Amino acid sequence: MYGEHDLSSSGLFSGHFINFGYWKDLTPGERISVAERTESQANLYRTVLSRLQIDPGDVLLEVGCGIGVGAALALREFDPSAVWGLDYSQDQLDRARRVHAEMLAEHPDRLVLRQGSALALPFEDSTFSKCFSVEAAQHFEDLATFATEAHRVLEPGGRLAVTTFFTPHATAIQDLRRLINTIDSGIDVVRPIDSFRDDLLRAGFADVHIENIGDHVWHGFDAWMEQTEFKNSWGRNWLRADHDGLIDYYLVTANTE
Ligand SMILES: C[S@@+](CC[C@H](N)C(=O)[O-])C[C@H]1O[C@@H](n2cnc3c(N)ncnc32)[C@H](O)[C@@H]1O
Repeated sequence: MYGEHDLSSSGLFSGHFINFGYWKDLTPGERISVAERTESQANLYRTVLSRLQIDPGDVLLEVGCGIGVGAALALREFDPSAVWGLDYSQDQLDRARRVHAEMLAEHPDRLVLRQGSALALPFEDSTFSKCFSVEAAQHFEDLATFATEAHRVLEPGGRLAVTTFFTPHATAIQDLRRLINTIDSGIDVVRPIDSFRDDLLRAGFADVHIENIGDHVWHGFDAWMEQTEFKNSWGRNWLRADHDGLIDYYLVTANTE
């Protein structure tokens, strides 16, 4: 999925991002430009990063950073001390190193890219003050282990923000498999949002807050698909699944004590 083929260059995505986007000021029926599609994906990052309450001294970890455009945005726009981007895929990291060659050379201690798994974060305990993840957790094989690992690498007083799609009802999974090919094939694994909240609490997180941001995601992403070669694809079923109450898009934050 994230190997030799660069998914970010598919007509679904743009600007080296690979996410559905956070859409503002969408006018129904109006054509969306590639620049606006890229902005929607940057805005998903800005929304997540705004919930992290970033201070200048913060050291951030992004889990599932893809081509690193969100990690670079975090450094540029939120000015923390450093951002570490972690991804499972060496191909994604090679792309990230090419795209951000200048920034990596200019700020070798402030933007750092590492290969590794969300389930075994290759860092010492209490290494980071903030941790975030954008549309990647649906690929993590085990969210309880991810929650434990995120809690371990965060220092006391740290903060986590995770955004992706979950289901409001455990019973929806079979219907989702019928509608969404990547769920049926197991590429995307959709968990009940309540079970992720329980994973975070069991891992030791406090103040778990769940925000539904679906109104800013599904319509925009569907409007984008409508004007691309994906117009008649199963991808249009994401919006249908949302309408049917089977899936939604959430931003979850939590603190370490
Ligand atoms: C949909 S892409 C999102 C990339 C980026 N966050 C963005 O919004 O552009 C998901 C990313 O998660 C990474 N990933 C999947 N499973 C992972 C795991 N277990 N540990 C770390 N990264 C993982 C993939 O390699 C891929 O780059």
